[in-house]
Amino acid sequence: MKERTLAILKPDCLEKRVQGKVIQHIIDAGFGIKGMRLLSLSEDSAKKFYAVHKERPFYVELVAYMTSGPVIPLCLEKDNAVADFRKLIGATNPANAEEGTIRKMYADSIERNIVHGSDSPENAKNEISHFFKDSDLV
Ligand code: CMP
Repeated sequence: MKERTLAILKPDCLEKRVQGKVIQHIIDAGFGIKGMRLLSLSEDSAKKFYAVHKERPFYVELVAYMTSGPVIPLCLEKDNAVADFRKLIGATNPANAEEGTIRKMYADSIERNIVHGSDSPENAKNEISHFFKDSDLV
């Protein structure tokens, strides 16, 4: 049974104009794209999306950054999608990311780390529903 995960290409990805390259890496790694949007997150929506981090010291900056420019949320599907996508993107801090991972190739810092990936199948379901209705998915 295929699994789904949520990716978000973050504002730095679009600022650097590498969203096409990153999407190609995702396709080449065997993920099917079930949904894709281009949007600007409102402060309210970003706060809700990252509510699990609201007590963390980086929360305010994270919300400010995620609302600083357009983002591209993607609903991706593949066997073992959650774990395989996190492997493809590499460690949250690009300084610790393995060679060949998306963050190693394109990200500057833990704050500006190019891409988000869900960290569990359960969170993936909630995160996908933040951006997509079932009827939006192909
Ligand atoms: P993401 O996978 O989108 O989930 C939470 C985000 O918080 C994370 O990527 C980082 O970009 C961001 N962040 C900023 N500072 C930190 C930090 N010190 N530790 C973990 N995540 C951080």
